[in-house]
Amino acid sequence: MFSGNSERACLARLSENFEGAQGNAETCHCEAPLNGRETRSRLPAVRLNPNHCLEETGLGDGIAAGGSMQRELNGRVALITGAARGIGFAIAERLAGQGAHVIISDIDLVAGEHGVARIGGTGGSASFAAVDLGQPSDVLRLAEDVRREHSRIDILVNNAGVVSTGPVETVELEEFQRLVTIDLTAVFLLTKAFLPDMTASGWGRIINIASIAGQQGGGMFGNSCYAAAKGGVIAFSKGIAREAGRSGVTCNTICPGLTDTALTSTLTDAQREQIISTIPVGRPGEPHDIAGAVGFLASDEASFITGVTLNVDGGFMRY
Ligand SMILES: NC(=O)c1ccc[n+]([C@@H]2O[C@H](COP(=O)([O-])OP(=O)(O)OC[C@H]3O[C@@H](n4cnc5c(N)ncnc54)[C@H](O)[C@@H]3O)[C@@H](O)[C@H]2O)c1
Repeated sequence: MFSGNSERACLARLSENFEGAQGNAETCHCEAPLNGRETRSRLPAVRLNPNHCLEETGLGDGIAAGGSMQRELNGRVALITGAARGIGFAIAERLAGQGAHVIISDIDLVAGEHGVARIGGTGGSASFAAVDLGQPSDVLRLAEDVRREHSRIDILVNNAGVVSTGPVETVELEEFQRLVTIDLTAVFLLTKAFLPDMTASGWGRIINIASIAGQQGGGMFGNSCYAAAKGGVIAFSKGIAREAGRSGVTCNTICPGLTDTALTSTLTDAQREQIISTIPVGRPGEPHDIAGAVGFLASDEASFITGVTLNVDGGFMRY
């Protein structure tokens, strides 16, 4: 029998492996369900058994001791794209803290596995599924693997995104197409894959991370191509809200403003200060600011909220 302690030891070993990560997926070698639950994705992946985590490790004990998070998502399964770092990882941490089993999906295997270990190390339930959202066939394989492994997804957070910054005359068709494929087409493919199961079960949450750039034609550091993709996500979300509303499935969009992540780390200090001077609260967002909004929209308290575009931007957009 796999004990809670052996799981923790297993996670510790995973963490050690990550310290000296070689760029390859490392799996634990204890005789635990952790072994043999790798995804069938083309890219290697590491999984933690969600039931094991829930039943054997007393998931939530640590969280309950912290006292600040409710566990209303207990038994729910959430897929978060681009969750190896930044906003996506904060969302994964948040939903795991609310009791969901979270599937961290990302192109970055090492960071994704590290994220699984971090969440597991604090009593959460997480697994990793590798994907390149820039390859539609890979997205379809991800959807198949996840459905085979978990039967269903209750919460889909389309978070992954890439940005394009130059003026339109500098953007090649190939760059535009890859951006649209990652930022918009993947949202369509994953929604199409998981919405039928959500409507059949009578409960579901689709939360898309767009951008204020999608409402104002770019700006900040995104350009018109990025704005087009994110504007498409906003419109698509409203359409899904309309299509799925009577089935207990909500679909909402969150538009972050400037948020400190790797995505915005290329801004110069001067650019950053200029943007901050336009934010009423006087600071950039942090990933947990966005994650808090996702946690609320995923909860039962938000069952009457759908089709909304929620700016989480410190007041930058005020109309
Ligand atoms: N940070 C901001 O200021 C800001 C503002 C507005 C909107 N957003 C949006 O928030 C979301 C998260 O952004 P972030 O700031 O955390 O960015 P980030 O670059 O820190 O993280 C993005 C994640 O997506 C993953 N990813 C990139 N390409 C991928 C691909 N082809 N397949 C799978 N995964 C891939 C990356 O590996 C990374 O883990 C994005 O959609 C972004 O457009 C961010």
